Amino acid sequence: MEKSSVIISPSILSADFTRLGEELREVQEAGADWIHIDVMDGRFVPNITVGPMIVEAVKKVSTIPLDVHLMISDPDKYLDDFCRAGADILTVHPEATYHLHRTLTRIRELGMKAGAALNPSTGLGAIRHVAPDLDVAMIMTVNPGFGGQSFIETMMPKLRDLKSLLDESDLTVLIEIDGGVTPKNAGSLAREGAQAFVAGSAVFGNPPYREAIAKLRAAAEGQNEASLQPAIPGAR
Ligand code: DX5
Ligand code: ZN
Repeated sequence: MEKSSVIISPSILSADFTRLGEELREVQEAGADWIHIDVMDGRFVPNITVGPMIVEAVKKVSTIPLDVHLMISDPDKYLDDFCRAGADILTVHPEATYHLHRTLTRIRELGMKAGAALNPSTGLGAIRHVAPDLDVAMIMTVNPGFGGQSFIETMMPKLRDLKSLLDESDLTVLIEIDGGVTPKNAGSLAREGAQAFVAGSAVFGNPPYREAIAKLRAAAEGQNEASLQPAIPGAR
């Protein structure tokens, strides 16, 4: 079976941290493409989660790229640390850094893929002029800070506009969606141009993981549940 071009990035924010190693092995075996790690500082967002130490631990048991989402103020201070810890894609918020161009350039210099994530209220103007410096443009479809929140429907036109902005400039920037992604909205998100899907509760809150990931992928690929093939280990 042809490998899917849709990227599913389960967020470990919703995993069982007492069994993090097992959880990671399970989602990887279940077909995850990336592992999403939400770093929160209690300042940029009203929650505190993990730092480079956990990223480093995750790296030890990961065979797929680490998609690290920094929801922290002044991310520039920690870019080197996250690089050393093993981040493959490092995404920052333009709302949290004064010099986004400098931050993105540094991320690439360190050899990582550079991402920018936009809060729901932030306009596309925040990234328009740095689009050539981006590998990933992420639209937050919840206010960052917590897993399990509801998808903000009014972000659909923003996604559409982002897609046209990138198409016009002929840039290959991957569009990632984070927050409230489910098999119900993954299809319309993909039709509007989303290529990577972060999913916390839709995966870790819905075992078995293989089935949860397959449902998201099928929805994003435009298949309906009835046409889903029975899970074949190792196949996509
Ligand atoms: C929210 C985080 C998300 C979160 C997604 O601030 O950035 O990555 O884990 O969780 P769900 O998929 O449950 O909305
Ligand atoms: Zn995230």
